[in-house]
Amino acid sequence: MSLKRKVAILGATGAVGQRFIQLLQGHPWFKIEVLAASERSAGKKYKDACNWLMESNLPPEVAEMPVVNADVDSVSKAGKVDLVFSSLPGDLAGPVETQFGAEYPVFSKASAHRMAKDVPLLIPEVNPDHVALIPIQKKNRGWKGFITTDPNCSTIQLAITLKPLMQFGLKQVIVSTMQALSGAGYPGVASLDIIDNVIPFISKEEEKVEEENQKILGTFNGKEVQKANFVISASCNRVHVKDGHLESVFAKLDSNPSVEEIEEAFRNFKGEPQRLKLPSAPEKPIVVRKEPNRPQPRYDRDEGKGMSVVVGRIRKDPIMTVKYMCLGHNTVRGAAGAGILSAELFAAKGLV
Ligand SMILES: NC(=O)c1ccc[n+]([C@@H]2O[C@H](COP(=O)([O-])OP(=O)(O)OC[C@H]3O[C@@H](n4cnc5c(N)ncnc54)[C@H](OP(=O)(O)O)[C@@H]3O)[C@@H](O)[C@H]2O)c1
Repeated sequence: MSLKRKVAILGATGAVGQRFIQLLQGHPWFKIEVLAASERSAGKKYKDACNWLMESNLPPEVAEMPVVNADVDSVSKAGKVDLVFSSLPGDLAGPVETQFGAEYPVFSKASAHRMAKDVPLLIPEVNPDHVALIPIQKKNRGWKGFITTDPNCSTIQLAITLKPLMQFGLKQVIVSTMQALSGAGYPGVASLDIIDNVIPFISKEEEKVEEENQKILGTFNGKEVQKANFVISASCNRVHVKDGHLESVFAKLDSNPSVEEIEEAFRNFKGEPQRLKLPSAPEKPIVVRKEPNRPQPRYDRDEGKGMSVVVGRIRKDPIMTVKYMCLGHNTVRGAAGAGILSAELFAAKGLV
């Protein structure tokens, strides 16, 4: 791919926006052209508008870029862009992304459009065929552009592990999450609420995990996605960890595979990003750890540059069929990395 596509980032100053900027540095196919955020930030240089939280330094050329308002007019005036990454707050993303979608390809990290019938809820390794919803959406809405979405951060890592279990007849899933602080954005949860504590509630999170997986793992029948036929019960907790969501998963299967067969299914799982060798595709979407005390957020979240899901403690369950732990980097595989991988899939297919 010779010419780099120019991108705008909506919500560029937030936890996910910053991760987009970090991951897009030196990207072979995409170049940052416009940064947009709220009117609090608009008109400032990026370095003055945001509190840079990434482990690497703020790239000097980005530091000096102006931030503009996250609306179509301001973004179009600021530069000619080929596609838009949106990491806007969920409540705002609905109308704003609709305006952008009429004009531009929009890759959204927000929840607003995820469950719309003509919008893909995409994980490139899991359901790349759902991209076929895009021509249907464009026709339905009469748009030049489109909206495609990535799942919720807890959902993405779970769905990646559920996909290889589908071959054994997935019936029921119970999941309890331990979610990192960066998942709440910046400044996020007050320190006095979370130090020495676990908060057993994350607004709207359980609902998202319980409804998104069936769409992601559903079947595209040429017109729409027919949801997969299994149920999930989720219980979500905020824990005192910077990055990396850990999940305790219990799955009931129709058949009774051995632990070794399940481990093998996880290890062998690969998808279209690996076949197409997309720039952000991890070599192994799922990495299996054999130690009894892994995965752990601090040690395992950067596996595959943050794009691999790490699974461990796979064992038989006396009530369900199997149980295991899974870990994913919430702002990489769960957010900006997921958006970039989706855009790479579209680029590889000539759709952006
Ligand atoms: N954090 C995660 O791990 C994660 C994972 C998956 C999905 N998501 C989703 O990604 C989105 C962003 O999350 P985040 O964690 O990055 O949140 P965040 O840190 O709170 O950042 C929010 C961003 O949106 C901008 N913004 C806020 N109000 C705005 C307005 N009225 N108009 C225009 N821009 C506005 C902010 O700009 P200012 O700085 O100017 O206020 C900031 O750039 C959310 O929808 C979230 O649910 C987050």
